[in-house]
Amino acid sequence: MDKLTYLEELERRAALGGGEDRLRRQHEAGKLTARERIDLLFDPATFQEADKLVTHRCRDFGMEQHVIPGDGVIAGHGLVDGRPVYAFAQDFTVFGGSLSETNAAKIVKVMDLAMKMGAPVVGLNDSGGARIQEGVLSLGGYADIFLRNTLASGVIPQISAIMGPCAGGAVYSPAITDFNIMVEGTSYMFVTGPDVIRTVTHEEVTKEELGGAMTHNATSGVAHFAVPDDRECLRLIRDLLGYLPSNNVDDPPRRETADPIDREDDALDRLVPESPNQPYDMLDLVHAVADDGVFLEVHRHYARNILVGFARLGSRPVGIVANQPAHLAGTLDIDASVKAARFVRFCDAFNIPLVTFEDVPGFLPGTRQEYGGIIRHGAKLLFAFAEATVPKLTVITRKAYGGAYCVMSSKHIRTDVNLAWPAAEIAVMGPEGAVNILYKREIDAAADKEAARATRVAEFKEKFANPYVAASRGFIDEVIRPRQTRAKLIAALAGLETKRDKNPPKKHGNIPL
Ligand code: HXC
Repeated sequence: MDKLTYLEELERRAALGGGEDRLRRQHEAGKLTARERIDLLFDPATFQEADKLVTHRCRDFGMEQHVIPGDGVIAGHGLVDGRPVYAFAQDFTVFGGSLSETNAAKIVKVMDLAMKMGAPVVGLNDSGGARIQEGVLSLGGYADIFLRNTLASGVIPQISAIMGPCAGGAVYSPAITDFNIMVEGTSYMFVTGPDVIRTVTHEEVTKEELGGAMTHNATSGVAHFAVPDDRECLRLIRDLLGYLPSNNVDDPPRRETADPIDREDDALDRLVPESPNQPYDMLDLVHAVADDGVFLEVHRHYARNILVGFARLGSRPVGIVANQPAHLAGTLDIDASVKAARFVRFCDAFNIPLVTFEDVPGFLPGTRQEYGGIIRHGAKLLFAFAEATVPKLTVITRKAYGGAYCVMSSKHIRTDVNLAWPAAEIAVMGPEGAVNILYKREIDAAADKEAARATRVAEFKEKFANPYVAASRGFIDEVIRPRQTRAKLIAALAGLETKRDKNPPKKHGNIPL
């Protein structure tokens, strides 16, 4: 065989992965192959593959008979919307995509290069875990990856897609990365599977119930997105990357829009209902202010009492955090606090300005919350907002009560621009609760208790349940007409473009984990 033919033969074998039969089975399982995934992730013909000819070194269990160039993972870099991105895709057709010593080294190489170049890393996971035949060499390979995930955190964006199995310790690489996307029906993640659970705790649970896409999107919060299939997954990764800078010293990329920066929306003047206890959908506000009404919601199925996600305002990406009065009245509970805290820290690490829409009656009361540690978890959100040095803007649409007022990006924790709608109520607590405490004796003694309470409630509302006391102290910079929210935010963002702020030098803070 001449030299060129030999090279072609090696490349052909690498391209074929585990062989036609297994490739067919991959399709039959509703999954794309690793190569098809890579092709859809990157701009056409931009992917440069590394280590296509790497093979494993295992000589036990007859493994020397089975050597496949590439060894079950495709690694390299290419362009997404013209910007460099590094990626690896586990190939389930080769030893179940299991992680060997050499295949881990390929992933590590890509991660090291991504760090040097300051480019995001995308991991497409589809693997039976540690390659059993390689024992501790494979475990070491995982640990090498975990270390890099940790060191890269906050330096380059890291995105994990779960597009098949991801079990055992293997879950901890995605867990450290910034975003996890799970494909419905074909992906699952768990530390220990149904069989072990049955033996140890006698619980009966299916793979899907234990670690399927919706379990981790709606119940555990481990995953940030659920997508119906592989194509949608790869489209979403491209979309998400479009909001993110390549690294922590870059600015996020702008995307020009024809949406006027001073567009007003009359409907916003009517968004907040007359009755303070009536819910409304905060998503209406987010869509109304965002460029072209586009909002990429993160963690949509988890802790729905708070919204987080990306939008653009006047072409610039922003991270949006918003209480959602349509769920649990927009209260802050453990899950909402943790969800928002992680998002705030991501945005702060990657120079993405934070826009907060606030309508929060307080922290959710109850023993479940207290026993679960709402004090510690709520403190995470407070800590995250307080330490964030990116441009911060807040709009109070209605309630800003109690500790939640302080937490939700208040002026006192270094928010640059604090706006309020005329319907805003900024107080230690709602009028009813306040009056019951302050005037309990007076109301109890009154002949007509309800009338006495109503008088005091009206008085309290007049005095405190408005934005003007806060505005008179400068805690609110401006009370704005709701219809002007988009224009005001974009103007404020432009003013903050050169913002520079620093935290005191330290090794790292001690966020209450
Ligand atoms: C080597 C593996 C493998 C593994 C699968 N294969 N997992 N080879 N090491 N970990 C091989 C199978 O032998 C098979 O080879 C091929 O991949 C496809 O696997 P199937 O079982 O036929 O596929 P399927 O029925 O779809 O089941 C997929 C699976 C199952 C659920 C992932 O393979 C499985 O349970 N694998 C083991 C999972 C596991 O326990 N991994 C270790 C987890 S602990 P042939 O040649 O027959 O096609 C871990 C520790 C990480 O990962 C530690 C980090 C700190």
